[in-house]
Amino acid sequence: MILLGGQGTRLRPFTLSRPKSFLPVANVPMIHYQLMLLAKYKVDNVILAISPHCKKYRDFLNIAKNLGIKLSLSCEKYPLGTGGGIKNAFRYLKGDEPFFVFNGDIISDCNLEKMLAFHKSSRSDVSIAVVKVENPKDFGVLVIDEEKRIRQFIEKPEVPVSNLINAGIYIFQPEILDEIPSGREVSVEKETFPYLIRSGKKVYAYIHDGYWMDVGTLDKYRIANFDIMEGKLKIGLNVTNTGKLLTGENVVFEKDVEARGAVIIGDGCHIGKNTVLKDSILFENVKIGKNCLIENSIIGRDVHIECNCEIHDSAIADRCRLRHYTKIKKF
Ligand code: GDD
Ligand code: MG
Repeated sequence: MILLGGQGTRLRPFTLSRPKSFLPVANVPMIHYQLMLLAKYKVDNVILAISPHCKKYRDFLNIAKNLGIKLSLSCEKYPLGTGGGIKNAFRYLKGDEPFFVFNGDIISDCNLEKMLAFHKSSRSDVSIAVVKVENPKDFGVLVIDEEKRIRQFIEKPEVPVSNLINAGIYIFQPEILDEIPSGREVSVEKETFPYLIRSGKKVYAYIHDGYWMDVGTLDKYRIANFDIMEGKLKIGLNVTNTGKLLTGENVVFEKDVEARGAVIIGDGCHIGKNTVLKDSILFENVKIGKNCLIENSIIGRDVHIECNCEIHDSAIADRCRLRHYTKIKKF
């Protein structure tokens, strides 16, 4: 199950015109990376638990089919929260087998086989993949004992009690869904996990020490793009280059274009003469005139930047037009 809800407010302006999981990461929609990870471990039945924009996700049915995955869409009339979303989507799974749940906005190469083996050997009711981070404040923070049993789970604490955080990948025993109330919004992080721990259920932490990124902000989004281009995600991808420049299809470079640092260019872009691109991401069909400098920026789909523009540290919304000599920088 993949949880796809929320408005992606911290990724605006790009999430104004598409759900978060459609954002291109190294030129493919973010959800690809989760589907590829699931396909790698032969998971062939995936349910998307979707809050708004349900119809848009039909585009993914074919992508999944090509990966050998049967995809179902579980649509919520109103946001049910993470717990409500899981409970509601379970009707597409049935059975008494444990199942995986993913937050839709994380990219990782978690070893699902090892995680499942851990879940079974610890006879866990819920297993939570856990990663260590420097700054745990914005995450679900947890405390584990020497057996890796979770003793405390606090969502976004003011003062974190450890560096271990919820990575947003779970394995649930189906019977544990009885503990989630129906018909209202429920957050597994704020409500269900603390309750399960308090009431003595077995909630265990599977420590993941490979690649993990929460693609929640524009900064992290940019880093995730470059990480993947540079081959840091180990899930047997064949869609990306390892290197510093990734170009989509039908990209035109005029004379003396220069790409510095890490640069990702989407399909159908046209880059004018003498233009310099540095540490930036261009979505599809971006047109940039000559003598421009684009640095540390994300440029949305169908943007037209006329010649002699200079843009630093910016996020330019889809379809913007910047007239020649526009400067977006500190003076
Ligand atoms: N179906 C559905 N319905 N999905 C939802 C809903 C809903 O009402 N609300 C949120 N989601 C999905 C989001 O799309 C996302 O994939 C996931 O649930 C988690 O929600 P976020 O809004 O992204 O939460 P967060 O990033 O602040 O924190 C979560 O992720 C961290 C790791 O990245 C929590 O799970 C933290 O505990 C965790 O550390
Ligand atoms: Mg998130």
